[in-house]
Amino acid sequence: MNEFACDVRNGLSKPQKELPSKYLYDELGSALFDAITVLPEYGLTRADQRLLETHAADLPREFCAVAEFGSGSGRKTRAVLEALSPQRYYPIDLSARALENCSNALAGLARVEPVEATYLNGLDRVPRNGEPVLLLFLGSTIGNFDARCRGDFLRQVRSRLRTGDAMLIGFDLVKPVEQMLEAYDDPTGVTASFNLNLLGRINRELGGDFDQRAFAHEARYDPEARRIEMHLRSLRDQVASIRDAAVECRFRAGESIWTESSHKFQPEEICEIARAAGFEIEAQWVDEQWPFAESFWRAA
Ligand code: AVI
Repeated sequence: MNEFACDVRNGLSKPQKELPSKYLYDELGSALFDAITVLPEYGLTRADQRLLETHAADLPREFCAVAEFGSGSGRKTRAVLEALSPQRYYPIDLSARALENCSNALAGLARVEPVEATYLNGLDRVPRNGEPVLLLFLGSTIGNFDARCRGDFLRQVRSRLRTGDAMLIGFDLVKPVEQMLEAYDDPTGVTASFNLNLLGRINRELGGDFDQRAFAHEARYDPEARRIEMHLRSLRDQVASIRDAAVECRFRAGESIWTESSHKFQPEEICEIARAAGFEIEAQWVDEQWPFAESFWRAA
């Protein structure tokens, strides 16, 4: 059984059914995510872009190499590479297609050396020759880690960096609940399609028989955990079977599958997160239109 099938089997066997959010991003899911980033209700990506365009020039110029977790479309990275003119750029991503797109978009700004790997394995593969490296972790993807994994992950990142290396990391900040819910449940239904596609992916890749029309997208905000949760809520009692995961799954009407968490941060808490992982904040910029922080950390 492959990893996807195992994860689906395990996740759907829990009392609160869940599926790892990394599986939202197949080819269709990635295209839908790109559409999310231009939705009027989802200001996160535009805020990130504005901050990078305004402040990339304020970053220190000492980095000969820039690495990035996730390669995205390369649009946000362009501002950083233009300001820093590094010799080499290492996008790290599991998707060969995303790496190819980003290599094409950024060729000419640095020697692009794509690394097809998980984030931490990819960071291990970035060659070091004694010069400081800047690591980019943009778009508040850190918010998609659960709080426990987040600390572990950042410590593991730190253990792979040397004193003097740096990380530029984005955090989406807490804002009025209505605004956050609209961003994750847009009236056009793009986020709903992004979420429901996960069931379609299971059908296509694992021989599942989910009736996608019998589930509804739901965005909830948990004020204590300060996170938006995406769920797929079953509209009726039903059974779905997934051949390659050897699972038959029963749903009661109203029961949900939890598919993603997106944590929202308080500006003060970022300092604590940085310190606990072994970094010092050297600079931090907050967007005025859409509360979002771009934080520049130095490996202490
Ligand atoms: C990739 N990540 C930062 C997005 C977020 O806002 O948590 C994923 C997303 N999910 C629904 N809309 C966007």
